[in-house]
Amino acid sequence: MNRDVSSCNTYNYGDAAYWDARYVQETGPFDWYQRYSALRPFVRKYIPSSSRVLMVGCGNAVMSEEMVYDGYEDIMNIDISSVAIDMMRRKYEYTPQLKYMQMDVRDMSFFPDESFDGVIDKGTLDSLMCGTSAPISSSQMLGEVSRLLRPGGVYMLITYGDPSVRIPHLNRTLYNWEIALYIISRPGFQKPTGCSSSSKSFLEPVPLTEKGLLPASFVLEDPDSHYVYVCKKMDGIN
Ligand SMILES: C[S@@+](CC[C@H](N)C(=O)[O-])C[C@H]1O[C@@H](n2cnc3c(N)ncnc32)[C@H](O)[C@@H]1O
Repeated sequence: MNRDVSSCNTYNYGDAAYWDARYVQETGPFDWYQRYSALRPFVRKYIPSSSRVLMVGCGNAVMSEEMVYDGYEDIMNIDISSVAIDMMRRKYEYTPQLKYMQMDVRDMSFFPDESFDGVIDKGTLDSLMCGTSAPISSSQMLGEVSRLLRPGGVYMLITYGDPSVRIPHLNRTLYNWEIALYIISRPGFQKPTGCSSSSKSFLEPVPLTEKGLLPASFVLEDPDSHYVYVCKKMDGIN
């Protein structure tokens, strides 16, 4: 089974029916890209455990459960797939910190403005960007995310998309987001023997050029790295 949203042309990742069919077949939970243990330093740094968190496109991932073990108390999980949501609701019936609702990220009008301190997206914007009306869908989704964040709140996007394809969508005056970028290798990535280790820690943000690109001198240790965009909603009165 393909686990790579970057194979856009082959799979209908933007289509709810595709996900329903997939979740009917899947036998166990699955976390795309990265597990919580790898993302924990970023999540803990930017989203305090007292936050009201929205997990967009939660699928059947265990990330939210692992966040609860780590002290998070209020995580609303949404997904367009009713199959995934029904399954997860049953699974976490006795976990009051986790709530599940079937919802399209392009229309989250159920929630009032500024309802959340943190929004986490692991692979969901990526899926929309594979759909038929990708540019409209992604701006509808990001507009909704921006509306739902409290000033000072954070949208954390975990994606395979490098800055050349993600920054143009994220860096819009309308959202007023201050963006920090981190890059992490795929789980299990081994550096080829003989390669010298970079002196930079993956916990340090990567500087971007004025155009929102990686500096020309920047070398990716893992060519299929994952990108963590931390988008902080600034106060309107700057
Ligand atoms: C690549 S999977 C990621 C699942 C999970 N976040 C993870 O990390 O394992 C993308 C998820 O986005 C959901 N999705 C796709 N389009 C959506 C939409 N318009 N609204 C809400 N969820 C959507 C899919 O059902 C799927 O569960």
